Amino acid sequence: MSPAVILSERFATGPISAERAAAAHALAKRGGGVSFSATLGGGRRTIPFEAALGDLLDIARAASLHAPFACKAGVCATCRARVTAGEVTMTTNTA
Ligand code: FES
Repeated sequence: MSPAVILSERFATGPISAERAAAAHALAKRGGGVSFSATLGGGRRTIPFEAALGDLLDIARAASLHAPFACKAGVCATCRARVTAGEVTMTTNTA
């Protein structure tokens, strides 16, 4: 196949607002000692929240959970998850 006929498209979001960045920072500070449970493929794991690792998807993957993702930008919904307790905040929401 000729490289000339291969097309690609990438989606990305811009930088988060200062307000959102401050809220994310405050949440990360508050999150010390907090854990979350993730159910994937029939198994359930409780994972400590470590803000330094990134968002919940990053933390789950760092804990060797094979959580699905594609864009990591809040666009494709591949990482969509149901929150059954507690609360979460999206730093970027393009919807
Ligand atoms: S990986 Fe695309 S929205 Fe999460």
